[in-house]
Amino acid sequence: MNNKSLVSIDDISTEEMVSILDLAKEFEKDPGQNLLGNKVIATLFFEPSTRTRLSFESAISRLGGKIVGFTDASSSSVTKGESLYDTIRTVNNYSDLIVMRHPIEGSARLASEISDVPIVNAGDGANQHPTQTMLDLYSIRKTQGSLDNLNIFLVGDLKYGRTVHSLLMAMSRWNTTFNFISPEELKMPVEYKLYLDKLGLKYYEHSDFSDIINEADIIYMTRVQKERFSDPMEYEKVKNVYVLRNSMLSNTKENMRVLHPLPRVNEIHTDVDANKKSYYFEQALNGVFTRQAILTRLLGLK
Ligand code: CP
Repeated sequence: MNNKSLVSIDDISTEEMVSILDLAKEFEKDPGQNLLGNKVIATLFFEPSTRTRLSFESAISRLGGKIVGFTDASSSSVTKGESLYDTIRTVNNYSDLIVMRHPIEGSARLASEISDVPIVNAGDGANQHPTQTMLDLYSIRKTQGSLDNLNIFLVGDLKYGRTVHSLLMAMSRWNTTFNFISPEELKMPVEYKLYLDKLGLKYYEHSDFSDIINEADIIYMTRVQKERFSDPMEYEKVKNVYVLRNSMLSNTKENMRVLHPLPRVNEIHTDVDANKKSYYFEQALNGVFTRQAILTRLLGLK
């Protein structure tokens, strides 16, 4: 990984990705290995989180490490005007690795250039969420048996959803066919389409997916990212544009799985939860094992 930090999914070679997924599989079998000893991990969350923060903290605790940090920037000296530069220069004196979520795109890259200890990007604005992608890959490989030649539907907010940006870049290594389903206002940004064009990969754009849903291997639903809209009326127009219901899954492939990085708002009806094709809560659990693999790899312990 680039400079021992994980900022973008493109910091990880394909070989290394597979190796991390294999390591995560070992942690799934035995998550309680005391590998971190007295290592201190800082978790700096400038934006809200449930899964990313808690699965990192669970991963660290199960590995015997210690955690320092904040869950809300308002409890830190940022409220007194401290810069990100000074915050990172300070926290890297207190920790062996920093996990950071921040609302500004590029903030994790900046932090990695300042810090003497590895930085793990836990989401920077609408840009990237590489550890989510690793757990998504783990979930896809586990449910499909392979990452090769899959037909992946990315549904919802493809403009602001950082998880779909990282996932697209990662899955492009396994000859994936992508179907992008979004309203006009939330289409996949052009730079990601150019990324696929350069690789000669197929993608299709739709505003509805009811007539093609049976072709999907993975349906990856996403929340419309309310916090990224500058105009609340624009959010109101698109907030409930897709709602996946159980009845829509009746003729889908037997092995198809519904993924969602969570949190969900209304985009997956709760009547899907009992369907064996729903996988989003198991996906969130997989976050512990993949994050254990990432932490121990970055710290040179595995
Ligand atoms: N998937 C994800 O990033 O969830 P949180 O915002 O709860 O961390």
